[in-house]
Amino acid sequence: MPNVTFLPSGKQVRGRIGQSLISLARSARVVIPQRCGGHASCQMCKVIVEAGSVSEPSALERRKMMEADLRAGTRLACQTKLTGLDCTIRIPENKLRSVVAAALARQKEEAEEW
Ligand code: FES
Repeated sequence: MPNVTFLPSGKQVRGRIGQSLISLARSARVVIPQRCGGHASCQMCKVIVEAGSVSEPSALERRKMMEADLRAGTRLACQTKLTGLDCTIRIPENKLRSVVAAALARQKEEAEEW
């Protein structure tokens, strides 16, 4: 059973060979955004394989993703399956969340200046 580490939380869980990353994340209560129910159409479930080994990109994933992104380790969590080897998966920070956090930080700084 492969060990999977999800970043940035660092949560480690054991998965089953052939299990999709999004299924494992869901059962481990690790949030990976998604909207299409795992049909490779929303592309919200992009993750980065930072270390270890996962399944090769499927034909569907190759059609949906840019080759450069795949080469850089970006994968669709709904299409990527566990092999028998451990891996480390980074869930990119939600862009909207980071924009809101930056706006709140600016607001706080401005309030402190008064
Ligand atoms: S869940 Fe929509 S592309 Fe993966």
